[in-house]
Amino acid sequence: MTLPDAIADIANQSMPKHVAIIMDGNGRWAQQRGKIRIAGHKAGVTSVRQIVSVASRMGIKALTLFAFSSENWRRPESEVSALMELFMFVLGREIRKLNDGNIRLRIIGDIHGFSDRLQKKIREAEALTSNNNGMILNIAANYGGRWEIAQACQQLARQVSDGRLMPEDIDEARISQNLSTTDLSDVDLLIRTGGDHRISNFLLWQIAYAELFFTSVLWPDFGEDQFMEAIASFVSRERRFGCTGDQIKEWLVSSVNNA
Ligand code: IPE
Ligand code: IPE
Ligand code: MG
Repeated sequence: MTLPDAIADIANQSMPKHVAIIMDGNGRWAQQRGKIRIAGHKAGVTSVRQIVSVASRMGIKALTLFAFSSENWRRPESEVSALMELFMFVLGREIRKLNDGNIRLRIIGDIHGFSDRLQKKIREAEALTSNNNGMILNIAANYGGRWEIAQACQQLARQVSDGRLMPEDIDEARISQNLSTTDLSDVDLLIRTGGDHRISNFLLWQIAYAELFFTSVLWPDFGEDQFMEAIASFVSRERRFGCTGDQIKEWLVSSVNNA
């Protein structure tokens, strides 16, 4: 086996199946440029597009992006409403491209908190892509990890009170099934941009064994290269077999460019 073949082998076997990202740092990116915060959120959309495309070309099975937390309602009203507008606009503009890319879009979070107009758009977008069998793209919006676990508890309690489930049959697998990531495997790699080292109530249950990758790069500056850096770091932490992270990254770059 030649060296590139060996690296390909290692990378293919150790690729993360489910990658989650806390996309942080939009506001600081804008402030550093003397712009208003929403300019940073707009610039962040370009990063989303790039990362969705490269992750799909890499063959990643599921990508879960944190777009708006249940705590983000505490931000100034003007920023929240600008974010909602942006979300509406981007959903409308990008959905066909996602569909052409065979990507299945799901919005995870309490969408009842959004306007009727936005909820309708979300349902339409999910329906349009529901038969695709490529990468699953979860966008976490009005999402909180504790909210999601509480939701799962409510669903299980209902099943118990209906007589469909015995309390002693509630186990970890059953809790997982009742989360919004129901049929997905746990997160293998969690990335947080923007320099902070915290989870901010994202996917608490699903990250139990995830590798954590923190970078100070602000989200609008996070592109294909930085994503591949994170994947290469994951692969090399998993099973290096004498290869360096740089060799793995080099192979990733060439394989994505040929995809
Ligand atoms: C993350 O960027 C995007 C959202 C939370 C919507 P921030 O807006 O948190 O950016 P910083 O952390 O203030 O720089
Ligand atoms: C986390 O970022 C939420 C999203 C990226 C959507 P925040 O900027 O809201 O997190 P904190 O407030 O710094 O913990
Ligand atoms: Mg932030």
